[in-house]
Amino acid sequence: MISMAPAAPFPRRLLLSLLLGVLVVAVVAAADVESSAGGGGGRRHSPRRTRYSRVFSFGDSLTDTGNAAILPATAGGPFTRPPYGMTFYHHPTGRASDGRLVIDFLVKALGLPEPTPYLAGKTAADFRRGVNFAVGGATALDPAFLKSRGMTSSVPVSLSNETRWFQDVLQLLGASAHEKHTIAASSIFYFGEIGFNDYSFALSAGNGTVDVAASLVPDIIAVIRSAVTVRAAHTTIKIFFLYKDPVGYRRYNGL
Ligand SMILES: *[C@@H]1O[C@H](CO)[C@@H](O)[C@H](O)[C@H]1NC(C)=O
Ligand SMILES: *[C@@H]1O[C@H](CO)[C@@H](O)[C@H](O)[C@H]1NC(C)=O
Repeated sequence: MISMAPAAPFPRRLLLSLLLGVLVVAVVAAADVESSAGGGGGRRHSPRRTRYSRVFSFGDSLTDTGNAAILPATAGGPFTRPPYGMTFYHHPTGRASDGRLVIDFLVKALGLPEPTPYLAGKTAADFRRGVNFAVGGATALDPAFLKSRGMTSSVPVSLSNETRWFQDVLQLLGASAHEKHTIAASSIFYFGEIGFNDYSFALSAGNGTVDVAASLVPDIIAVIRSAVTVRAAHTTIKIFFLYKDPVGYRRYNGL
């Protein structure tokens, strides 16, 4: 999500479309990870040992742990200033939150390292413990596609950038196909929200309307599906999806 000017609440029909687009409701949680939720008795609160070594995450500001703060187009944005970060890190971290995000709780629960924001790393050593490719303001659809529909994206990152970055990282971490496979097989892939920004651009474009926003739904679902399918092709990986709250029910002004 990014900050938006106040907008009128959406009609219920659009809401349904939006939800379909944003949710792609599917939680393909690994059985062995799921089993940690209830089991364990007294050990319930300790991080669970897992056979996974790292998390690769994708998404927008609901998952970004520092990329937008570095990306020139968004550096110095509101998330880099107080009160962001005040309740947990006690300083702004680039997260669009006063505290932690779902991804932070997820890696903690799994006992995995905090993934490095992609734009904060350079070397294999920076990325070996997991990478967060999510960027605040990122769209699901490419800026060129949005432009062809009369919309201008203010952040030059879409899901295709994030998946290309992932390929670059994989290349950096593993020289051979076998190594790449081993890395992917020992990683958890987390897809946070993506698509919200596309809908908000559609609604705030000069001639944007509810119908225009709704018309993006199939395209947005297609790019998300494609990104997830490519990841899934690597191996029997475990993928989580962030279940998005119904954004349409509130006026969104970013704060
Ligand atoms: C907005 O209007 C322009 C020019 O009339 C048109 O090219 C574009 O497709 C329209 N955009 C949408 C989102 O309908
Ligand atoms: C994202 O990809 C587009 C090309 O599809 C490129 O023009 C743009 O610079 C990329 N963004 C970043 C931040 O690298």
